[in-house]
Amino acid sequence: MLLSTVIDRAGGTGYNHRVIMNSERRPSILFTRQEIEAAVKRLAAEIRQDYLGKNPLLIGVLKGSFMFMADLVRLLDFPLEVEFIRLSSYGRGRESSGKVRVGQALRAQIRGRDVLVIEDIVDTGLTISFLLDYLRKKKPASLRLCTLTDKPSRRQVPVTIDYLGFTVPDRFIVGYGLDWDERFRYLLDICVLEDG
Ligand code: IMP
Ligand code: MG
Repeated sequence: MLLSTVIDRAGGTGYNHRVIMNSERRPSILFTRQEIEAAVKRLAAEIRQDYLGKNPLLIGVLKGSFMFMADLVRLLDFPLEVEFIRLSSYGRGRESSGKVRVGQALRAQIRGRDVLVIEDIVDTGLTISFLLDYLRKKKPASLRLCTLTDKPSRRQVPVTIDYLGFTVPDRFIVGYGLDWDERFRYLLDICVLEDG
């Protein structure tokens, strides 16, 4: 599906027209907003079943998970806490270097908590394994991972995913919080980026 379709579905707002004016890369839809909504509902039901009564601490990995986190939490109608963590990779462009540092320290106590990490995508797995190791050292009661998307074809280190939205092909995806160089986060559908 081409950009014109993306724009039609977005209601043809002037905001989206900036994509046409400025972009040399075209997003085309991989998962529609309806498919995303269904996936988020399914994940919320699974999480509710496992965490009801446990007052879990949900930690969203910035920035990509912000939209997913917001939609997910809206469907979780029981006591929980929300935190965000900012990670910076030393790598450039699309490739993950594996050298990660925590850019914004966590305020919440991790020790003894049931912690659920909320990610946008697990690609090589280097970023998330760093974060899971970092959190594990803080002795949570339990530590699990929920990711909206998984790109297993690019994995460099094994990662256990407890809650998964979509498996994606080896393509660069944008939209629904995911960016390419800070662009396209606002797209309501998950799109793949096409050249030219
Ligand atoms: P890693 O390779 O698993 O360490 O991925 C680290 C980060 O790279 C993810 O959290 C995303 O922010 C970003 N990333 C990897 N693949 C994609 C993609 O297809 N679209 C947008 N961001 C991506
Ligand atoms: Mg991320």
